[in-house]
Amino acid sequence: MSEPKKLYVKTYGCQMNVYDSERMVEALGSKGYVQTDTPDDADMILLNTCHIREKAAEKVYSELGRFRPLRDANPDLKIGVAGCVAQAEGEEIIRRQPMVDLVVGPQTYHRLPEMVDTLAEGGRALDTDFPEEDKFAHLPKTRKAPRGPTAFLTVQEGCDKFCAFCVVPYTRGAEVSRPVERLLHEAQDLVERGVREITLLGQNVNAYHGAGPDGTEWGLARLIRRMAEIDGLERIRFTTSHPNDMEDDLIAAHGDCAKLMPYLHLPVQSGSDRILKAMNRKHTAEHYIRLIARIREARPDLLLSGDFIVGFPGETEADFQATLDLVTTVGYGQAYSFKYSARPGTPAAERPGVDQTEADDRLQRLQALLSEQQRAEQDGMVGREVRVLFEKPGRMPGQMVGKSDYLHAVHVDGPETLRGQIAPVRITASASNSLAGMLI
Ligand code: SAH
Ligand code: SF4
Ligand code: F3S
Repeated sequence: MSEPKKLYVKTYGCQMNVYDSERMVEALGSKGYVQTDTPDDADMILLNTCHIREKAAEKVYSELGRFRPLRDANPDLKIGVAGCVAQAEGEEIIRRQPMVDLVVGPQTYHRLPEMVDTLAEGGRALDTDFPEEDKFAHLPKTRKAPRGPTAFLTVQEGCDKFCAFCVVPYTRGAEVSRPVERLLHEAQDLVERGVREITLLGQNVNAYHGAGPDGTEWGLARLIRRMAEIDGLERIRFTTSHPNDMEDDLIAAHGDCAKLMPYLHLPVQSGSDRILKAMNRKHTAEHYIRLIARIREARPDLLLSGDFIVGFPGETEADFQATLDLVTTVGYGQAYSFKYSARPGTPAAERPGVDQTEADDRLQRLQALLSEQQRAEQDGMVGREVRVLFEKPGRMPGQMVGKSDYLHAVHVDGPETLRGQIAPVRITASASNSLAGMLI
């Protein structure tokens, strides 16, 4: 056998890109590549990129420029761009940075082995199709190597919602759900390799409607319930969801499926009905607030997370105030907030923007409120008993870190043998982004 070639992958963006990067590494395994964690001695560098906010493409070009000395030292080094910037920019990437050998979109990376053959013959490879075939059916079926206690599993891809600000429907294409049996098979395989917690992924994961083994279409709740029957799988999560796809059986599952964790990421973006309408979110603030109340009725201790955009075109101070009011009413244990970023090709990009100083100021005010809520929620955990799935050693010797059911990072003093185990912990202290506790 020839020496394995080294593959360095850098991942940007959402969890779906994290999952895709793992699958790309596996696909290239068939070509003799093994993953390395530094670009310095790599035979191939792959950037798996994100296009969601401004300057994403610029960042990719400047990152590529930094690989110049490596390429000068090793003319055989192959450089590739994958992910959503690859999808959006396509050939333009090679035009602007001729050092790039390969451009592959999120829907075609199962073709990487053939693309690598093209490179070996001295050519360049570009593939940003939305192919008919299902890439997952063409990727290596079992993922044998042992792995850590948590894993992502993409169950649904693409988006048909077309929120006025968002590039995802253009970079990831239309909604597609993977068949139930393949997902169960992949989940079983992950569990056999040491995984205890699976996070089901989709751009709109709760719009999942995959072909079931009985010939009917299964929704996400049914998939979760069936997955919960897998022995050795202890925890299930899912992300990201749209409020309009939060159906009754999924809400019920939060109450009666013990393996479904009490954590939900449900972005609302704005608390103003006027802005929600302009965003094409197709629901009101009131609808969202009532929905949260119903989910909390099913699972009172649910930790809620969300996404917000401030400074969307046309947002007034009164609209922004409505967002603050919604946050106060709902109460978040965790949240992400962003300043609106105009994305070429999206409807909102055509509209006049709000004053940037004003938008910066709103972002600060919103983040102050959200941090205050997050801190209060965390401080409220002190004294409580939680179950922690331990993932890795902490920074201090003798320390282990894991996640609570609510996805808090929790540190304890304990042996490395805790890795992969779920143990009860008494929370003793709350820091800015994590909790400390004692094994019980
Ligand atoms: N499918 C998910 C979101 C995926 S994008 C959903 O609908 O909730 C993740 C987050 O990025 C979004 O929730 C939004 O808050 C933010 N985002 C997307 N496009 C943006 C833009 N143009 N400017 C600023 N933030 C954006
Ligand atoms: Fe983007 Fe909206 Fe689709 Fe989420 S639901 S991916 S924000 S278009
Ligand atoms: Fe970014 Fe594409 Fe994910 S744009 S957020 S990597 S779907």
